[in-house]
Amino acid sequence: MINSSDLKLTAVSTDIKRIGAGTLVLGVVKGTDGPTLVASPFSPKVTESLQASLNLLNATGAADELTLLPATAETKAELFAFIGLGDFEESTLTEEALRRAAGSATRQLAGTSAVLFALPAATVTQAEAVAEGIAMGAYDFSNHRSTPAKKQPLGEAVIATAASADKKLPAALKRAAVIGRAVRATRDLVNTAPNVLFPESFAQEVKDTAKGLALKVTVIDDKKLEKDGYGGLTGVGRGSDRGPRLVKVEYSPAKAAKHLALVGKGITFDTGGISIKPAAGMHAMKNDMAGAATIHQAIVAIAELGLPVKVTAWLCLAENMPGGGSTRPGDVITMFGGKTVEVLNTDAEGRLVMADGLVAASAEKPDAIIDVATLTGAQVVALGVRTAGVMGDEALRDSVVAAADRAGEAAWAMPIPEELRPSIESQVADLANIGERMGGMMTAAAFLNEFVGEVDGVKIPWAHMDIAGPAFNEAAAFGYTHKNATGSSVRTLVTFAEEMAAGK
Ligand code: BES
Ligand code: MN
Ligand code: ZN
Repeated sequence: MINSSDLKLTAVSTDIKRIGAGTLVLGVVKGTDGPTLVASPFSPKVTESLQASLNLLNATGAADELTLLPATAETKAELFAFIGLGDFEESTLTEEALRRAAGSATRQLAGTSAVLFALPAATVTQAEAVAEGIAMGAYDFSNHRSTPAKKQPLGEAVIATAASADKKLPAALKRAAVIGRAVRATRDLVNTAPNVLFPESFAQEVKDTAKGLALKVTVIDDKKLEKDGYGGLTGVGRGSDRGPRLVKVEYSPAKAAKHLALVGKGITFDTGGISIKPAAGMHAMKNDMAGAATIHQAIVAIAELGLPVKVTAWLCLAENMPGGGSTRPGDVITMFGGKTVEVLNTDAEGRLVMADGLVAASAEKPDAIIDVATLTGAQVVALGVRTAGVMGDEALRDSVVAAADRAGEAAWAMPIPEELRPSIESQVADLANIGERMGGMMTAAAFLNEFVGEVDGVKIPWAHMDIAGPAFNEAAAFGYTHKNATGSSVRTLVTFAEEMAAGK
């Protein structure tokens, strides 16, 4: 299922005049006097005439704008590809602007080869951002096509950087390659059709991926889930012929001081169950396993990078289908750990499988729990399609948002207002699975909050990421983000784990 091929990333010095390249990628910002080349490797005279040509072509330097010109003297390239960086000065360029420009050029240059990126990359950090952008932009999903796409993604790329001799550069490029591969693999899982990716095949994929890595995979199948009292996974999965699975992935390096638990929503298809969804757009609910795919690829990346932090990932996999055996609205189920839940709407299934995962994760007394889920349509209403909602215990919530900021991903802290808690009281059971509709993203978080465990009477620090919008891009591609699955939040989790490993 995962077949995103490897990408070769190398670095060279900025003396690009001597290096042969088919296509030379150059960065353009929206200057005050029109499109302005940044980090131009050319003489002022040539730079000026190129800018004049760009102006004549109505280029502005806006993000995602790619302008091709035949190469002029002073290089061995055949083609110049000018990519817009947006509204910046050379001195105010952000790493995320570099990632997006590199990714956008990579995406738009699919089908070509021998590409040299001469974007502003004076430091290791900037070169790494360019590399990450390339590694996320070089993507295509042809698994379900009888013939692969004509324009294949770039298989290799060369990055020109003034830091080419820096001792830290090889590790930075490796990190970019690992993260890029993890993002692409997450997209592959999410884009895979739901008749191909279902709980059992997803679990098998996790096992296959772990081969050769320091990861231990344990799969709990439907029979054992039912026997051991995982009522959330069992209750949601029982309408499908393809039973639920709980997949535990462990990474336990010798030098780990801290333990991070990750819990992911893995509904391989969400019809809504008996509370069935409308037909229009239902196909997109194949993305309802994005949380599980994200935490899976995050732990793979963490293992590949050899980070000194113990990580346990819990993938809560089920298919939410209507059927003779389905949970009905009004049914009461007993979750793992013993709490009872009245299911008032079978379409609020994510919180049920996640509850089991949170209880299981808590039993190991980790130092922190982060869960990732395409949990609510209300997330999209509150924050739009690109910004993840982060809730939970304030300190951990805020460090997850900070990690997202550093990684270049859009995430925003949201509260769990106390007045929402009474709305999930049930007439007959410990809790109901739905409550106040206004602010429904936070109502769902209030529900999850009930399943986070304590250690010696102190609640385990917990943060919840709702990625219902950011996981899937139904609009046009932009930057390194392709249409459909995005692979969002992988970078946030890896960045967070790096900080935890460093004792921050
Ligand atoms: N998987 C959906 C949430 C979702 C919506 C993800 C849009 C991605 C895009 C979730 O299981 C769901 O159906 N939630 C319901 C909850 C409601 C019944 C309380 C929703 O948001 O409508
Ligand atoms: Mn649902
Ligand atoms: Zn769902």
